[in-house]
Parts: sequence; C-alpha cells; structure tokens
Amino acid sequence: MAFEPKPPVIPTTRTCPFDPDPEYIRLREKDPISPVTFNVAPGRKDGWLATRHEDVRKIMADARFSHRADLLALVSQPPFEVENYDPKPSPPGSFVRMDAPEHTRYRRLLTGFFTVRRIQQYEPTLAGIIDGCLDELEALEPPVDLLTAFIKKVVYRSVHSVMGVPESDIAELDEHFSVLMGLQYSLEEFIHHNGALDATLERIVQYLFDNPSDKLLGQLIATGELTQEEVTNICWITIGGALDTTPNMLGLGTFALLEHPEQLAKVRARPELMERAVEELLRYLTISHLGASRVALEDVEIGGRTIEAGQTVVLSLPAANRDPEQFERPEEFDVTRPSRRHVAFGFGIHQCLGQHLARATLRIGFQKLFDRFPGLRLAVPADEVPLRSIAMHYGVQELPVTWR
Ligand code: HEM
Repeated sequence: MAFEPKPPVIPTTRTCPFDPDPEYIRLREKDPISPVTFNVAPGRKDGWLATRHEDVRKIMADARFSHRADLLALVSQPPFEVENYDPKPSPPGSFVRMDAPEHTRYRRLLTGFFTVRRIQQYEPTLAGIIDGCLDELEALEPPVDLLTAFIKKVVYRSVHSVMGVPESDIAELDEHFSVLMGLQYSLEEFIHHNGALDATLERIVQYLFDNPSDKLLGQLIATGELTQEEVTNICWITIGGALDTTPNMLGLGTFALLEHPEQLAKVRARPELMERAVEELLRYLTISHLGASRVALEDVEIGGRTIEAGQTVVLSLPAANRDPEQFERPEEFDVTRPSRRHVAFGFGIHQCLGQHLARATLRIGFQKLFDRFPGLRLAVPADEVPLRSIAMHYGVQELPVTWR
C-alpha cells in the first residue's frame, strides 16, 4: 500500500512562507489553551495547544511539566500504525527528553563549551570558514542554489571545527538527519536512515575514543565521565541540533531579507543593527514549526484551563512569537526591534544549548554574504522557492539566487 504521510495534529499551513498558519491568530485570541487530540500517545490522547507567549514561557519554566520521551504524546505521526505506543525512557546521554536531575548532569558537562565567551573566542575561526565558503561561491557561475553552494558548507565546516566530527562524515549524517527531521519518510526510509545514522554515529564515536582530540567531543571523552553509548547519544542531539536548524535559519533568513529590501537596506547602512536583525529573524520566522511539547506530571491550572496529569501540551513557538501582548506590531518584520524576549530557542532548562553558536553563525554569515554580494537576488519568482512545509524545522528546500 502506498504510504501517505499523516499531517501533524496542530495547524502547519503557512500561506506566506514567513507567517505561521493564520489559524493561530484566532486560537490565541479566542482559545489560547485549546484542546487537541493526539493519535499516538503512551497515555492520554486528549491534550492541549498553547499559543500565548506568557503561557508558553510559564509552562517551559515549570517543573510540573516533563519532557520525558516515555510520557509524551506525538505531534507528528510515524509512518506506520501504532496500536499500543509504549516508548521507553530516553537512553543514557539523550538528555533532551529527560527531566532534572538526569538532564542537569549532562547539561553541566556541556554548557561550558557553548557559553557566550567560548563562542566569542571561536568567532575568528567561524569568520575564516565563512570567508572560505564565500570564495568558493564567488568562483561559481550563477544562478546557484545558495543552500548547497554556501549555507550547508558553512555549517558542515563549523560542526567539524567545533565538535571534531570528521569532515568526511558530515554530509552523510546530514542526509540521514534531513530525511528524519523532514518527517515525510516512508516506513522503509525511516528504518534505513535511522539504522544508518546510528551505525555512522557509533563508528565516529569509536574513532574519537581511539583518537584523542582537543575539540569538543574529544574533551568530553577526556573527562572520563561518559560511556561510549552516552557520547553517541549526545552526538545525536548536538549534531542533529546543529545540522537541521542553522541551515534552515540561514536559508529562510536570506529569503526573508531579500523579500524585505527596505529592511535589508537598513542593516547594510548600519551594520551594528545586524545583532537585532538576527533576533528579529529568529522571532519572525520561528523555524521550530511544530513547537515544543511537555506533559503534565500533576494537574496544573494555566490560562483558565486545567491541564490534567498525563496530558501533553504543545507549545506553539511560532504563535507565541507573534503574540501582540508581547510584541508591538508582531506581524511586521522590523530589524530595529529591540526585544529579545522571543522563544525561538525555547525557555527554561531545555533552552537551546547551541543558541550562541547559532547567533554568531547567522550574524557573521548574513553580514559577510551581503557585503560580498551586494547584488544578491532570487533567481526565480518568490512563490517558486520550494519550502519545507511539514518538517520539524521550517525552511527552504533550495534557494536559487543570482548576483550578476
Ligand atoms: C537557529 C538555530 C537553532 C534553533 C532555532 C534552535 C531551537 C531550539 C529550541 C526551540 C530548543 C528547545 C526545545 C524544547 O524545549 O523542547 C532547542 C534545544 C536544543 N538545541 Fe537548538 N536550535 C538552534 C541551533 C542549535 C545548535 C547550533 C545546536 C548545537 C549544539 C543546538 C542544540 C540543541 C540542544 C542540544 C538542545 C536541547 C537542550 C536541552 O534539552 O537541554 N541547537 N533548540
């Protein structure tokens, strides 16, 4: 039987590539914690969708809400029938889907590598990587797909230089992550890419245990505190975290800047605005398309509703980042907007580990790209740019550009 991808249980249709599904505006105004029925859940199938900024932040900061894999209902459905969904707790090292104190132990081991200061020290290396990729781009005959000709190269090389993953393995890892995070796989593809990803990560970690390095993964291994299985699962989260997010933000962000020439002109005239522009792009585009999810460990009153123990609540980050109670003229893309209170990186104990690295890559990447190619423009009409409509992280599938 032909496989039909099943839609997620929350609204995901973007009528404009930069705006979340219009249904969120109605929900946020009329029913900010609205009922949702999940199809696949280890416990209760009835749950909620939260769309207000204030509620989303509160839930993310509240220890009565868990992120445990064995308790959460699924927002996006697997490509097969699941009758008795009975997920196991996350394996050692897979700390995203763990609560404190297990989560805290891993986060403490990793946080030092991703502080603002550590990333500032890394910026000259990052700038060198971006310059090198721009040299290669300049040597090409336009039109080109900016995603493969520039963006992916930057991210692959920075994952290599920060983490110490052999450069030759990164494209393969990316291929598997892209399919899995794209959520449009058949059962056969799911099994193939999951298996191949595990095997590749295990091989890489074995190599890193046998060949000490001073990069992040080498230093983590040298602490002697982690098993090979833990390091493999940490790789899954951090490499997957980096490979599926930053390229989508760079791609969709470039598209948004090209489609808002007056905003691009402001950043070009005043480069000091780039920091704000990056925050605004993160807010305005909020690529974590399916949001985040949490499950209540006890009954909790919030926004006039009772979220009962065992119910999953989906936190719509795109909707929260367009909440007029938090942001003036939220539908407008304004690179001069001062607020950093967006939730594009989440909030609370699971707030994005790689956020400062992502910010630096976006800031230096956009700056150098538009400096080097002042005539950069789309090579196709905007409505022909192919988009990732249902994926974990929203973005462009390709970004055809020219500059001559
Ligand atoms: C623009 C780029 C990025 C965006 C928009 C983004 C978004 C997010 C969001 C929304 C969360 C919270 C999920 C939740 O609470 O359920 C998160 C967590 C995480 N991100 Fe990112 N991310 C980005 C880049 C990165 C990079 C470069 C890394 C590489 C290290 C990374 C690694 C992680 C990890 C490991 C977590 C889980 C943290 C925890 O559970 O303690 N992310 N990210």
